[in-house]
Amino acid sequence: MSTTKDCLLLAGATGFLGGAILSELLQNEELSGLKVLLVVRAKTPSEGLERVWKSLRRFEVSEENIERIRVENIVCGGLTTTESFADDPRLQKVTLVINCAGITSFGPHPEVWTTNVDGTLAFAHMVSKLPHLRRLIHVSTAMICGSKPPHVVQEDMYPQPKLRHFVPYTESKAEAERRLREELPNCPLVIVRPTIVVGHSKLGCKPSGSIFWAFRMSDALRMVTAPLTSRIDVVPVDYVAQALLHLVRAKKLHHTTYHLGAGDEQSCSFGEINDAFSRAMKRKKGSDFRQATFHEAAELQPHFYELFGKCNKRFMLGAMRLYGSFASLNTAFDNSRAVEDGVPTPPRFTDYLHECYNSSKDITISDQAMIDFA
Ligand SMILES: NC(=O)c1ccc[n+]([C@@H]2O[C@H](COP(=O)([O-])OP(=O)(O)OC[C@H]3O[C@@H](n4cnc5c(N)ncnc54)[C@H](OP(=O)(O)O)[C@@H]3O)[C@@H](O)[C@H]2O)c1
Repeated sequence: MSTTKDCLLLAGATGFLGGAILSELLQNEELSGLKVLLVVRAKTPSEGLERVWKSLRRFEVSEENIERIRVENIVCGGLTTTESFADDPRLQKVTLVINCAGITSFGPHPEVWTTNVDGTLAFAHMVSKLPHLRRLIHVSTAMICGSKPPHVVQEDMYPQPKLRHFVPYTESKAEAERRLREELPNCPLVIVRPTIVVGHSKLGCKPSGSIFWAFRMSDALRMVTAPLTSRIDVVPVDYVAQALLHLVRAKKLHHTTYHLGAGDEQSCSFGEINDAFSRAMKRKKGSDFRQATFHEAAELQPHFYELFGKCNKRFMLGAMRLYGSFASLNTAFDNSRAVEDGVPTPPRFTDYLHECYNSSKDITISDQAMIDFA
């Protein structure tokens, strides 16, 4: 376990996972002794502080707790500008690092490679030289498994060369992992790969509606591009945050790569997800929900405005095709390593889906989708 002397350097605190980690740090008394430094993209520490506070308000952290983060906790900089803060004397005390910064867009983002590969490597090289570093957690993604993974994926199966990826984002994450292992063999590096993260188990989509819109889209169409018995591995962001804090502080870990997923047993089938939507909406259990091809779904294009809200129909078709590909994988990520090393099993998606649904009522499906393509 971490000691009162520990100092955690966190990159990505203005994001979904990083915000959840910081909100957990501020609200969990057991973690109150942990000092924290936040790498934030900002021109000044006060601008960085404002950005972090804004992120924390999404997680409904009390103002009293939010104000415990001050300018002293802010290190201005980014993954691609490590030279601007590498000599900051505050870094000398850092013992633990979590890097959950990165470009997560599924769209053709021009900086995906320079940030997720070059920036990640530059940051890891910099922190690996810190005199008291005990552990560096690099947050990757379970989706480095490409377009044809087996039904249950174990950590050591990937990364693999020459794999077909649905999006450049997952390819960049796979390449970052490969180079981290190659270039930093002596670093106390632990790679953690969360599966698909949707909502928060208590706050639903208030912190972020990332990916939940795709489930809403499928529900609105009354179709999914996979058998109803096919499963999808989804976890809430608060589970991922707690698990990362556990893994970064644990005295001893038995592995250097971990999945954070629901695993085969806790993953939900699309039929179960449809039933959970019905419960959340208080509608009769829908027998009209069915497996369909992308082309059948695309034929509903004339009705997209009423189904998804005012939208760019071509964009929605593209999003539907892409997320349909992920939905068809029928893959779960084995989480037994994490469980053996003390991470609790996550709740099932269907146990908190109603929170996601209720907190998404005021946003159209098309507007909620934008977050994943920015
Ligand atoms: N969400 C998921 O479903 C999921 C699943 C598996 C793995 N992951 C992994 O978890 C990590 C975090 O994902 P997320 O969903 O929290 O993403 P997010 O909400 O998009 O947040 C990304 C964070 O990275 C920061 N960032 C981007 N480029 C940066 C740079 N050049 N230098 C420093 N910071 C930079 C952003 O800062 P700004 O605010 O300044 O832009 C933000 O704080 C990613 O590495 C992702 O691969 C996410």
